[in-house]
Amino acid sequence: MPIPPFFLGTFGMKGSDGRRAILQALECGFRALDTGQVYDNESEIGHAVVESAIPRDQLFIATNIAVDNMAPDRLLASLDRSRDDLQTDCIDLTLIHWPVVRGDATICRALEALALARQRGLTRAIGVSNFTIALMHQAVDLLGPGAIATNQIEIHPYFQNRKVVESATALGIHTTSFKTLAKGRIASDPTIQRIAQRLQATPAQVVLAWALALGHSTVTSSLRREHLALNLRAAALRLDAEAMADMAGLERHERLTNPAALAPAWD
Ligand SMILES: NC(=O)c1ccc[n+]([C@@H]2O[C@H](COP(=O)([O-])OP(=O)(O)OC[C@H]3O[C@@H](n4cnc5c(N)ncnc54)[C@H](OP(=O)(O)O)[C@@H]3O)[C@@H](O)[C@H]2O)c1
Repeated sequence: MPIPPFFLGTFGMKGSDGRRAILQALECGFRALDTGQVYDNESEIGHAVVESAIPRDQLFIATNIAVDNMAPDRLLASLDRSRDDLQTDCIDLTLIHWPVVRGDATICRALEALALARQRGLTRAIGVSNFTIALMHQAVDLLGPGAIATNQIEIHPYFQNRKVVESATALGIHTTSFKTLAKGRIASDPTIQRIAQRLQATPAQVVLAWALALGHSTVTSSLRREHLALNLRAAALRLDAEAMADMAGLERHERLTNPAALAPAWD
């Protein structure tokens, strides 16, 4: 199953404001939603989806399993709660949020439980987030080629994560980039602004088109209607070789997401 190019990242979209922000993104054309059990907003997503009246088969809903739910019995039970909250029988994509285990859980058993969830029809596809090269190998060795639909990792112009992407590609794992807009910092970048001006686009569109040209799906968030609508139009933007080279030159290995309690031994 192909992973959609544009996910709305929903971290922080909680309560009635959160539900409105999700609904607004659906109205602006987003059809893929990314959440996590720890974001505590799966019911807001469920309500926004129902309110939007968009047929379920036109939407793609992804959720990330919380670290506390990595033990196999907890993982499966938590997915049932997620399905209830998301008001869906089958989640499109379920990912392990962080390769961290507590108590007697192990990564291998969590991956096997995810595979079981897919076999039981609780989720159409399974994936991972924040997996290192070694962990991706471990997952493919365990579940076989093609089982892991995507690895969702931080990628933006200042943190291009090339080694992990290359290994994922070699292993047949699609890459999804999160924080693709570097939390909005790309909007004031002179190099990106120059490319945007030359190609008659916005800086965010340039960055999204760059990520898409590299073959990634993207997770981004915005609370503004105009940004949401403009960002989706990056699908029609093609960067030329000069722009791609300029974007590649922005790498400065600046990781933005590195929670001490969750981060693995990064590559
Ligand atoms: N799997 C994981 O471990 C993990 C970790 C972190 C994040 N994520 C996912 O990634 C999602 C996105 O993360 P994020 O929101 O921190 O990063 P982001 O999408 O890179 O940046 C969001 C910021 O960009 C701004 N923005 C959006 N469109 C813009 C535009 N056209 N022009 C100028 N600014 C623009 C937004 O401001 P406005 O609201 O003003 O537009 C917002 O402040 C999260 O919600 C979550 O779903 C996953």
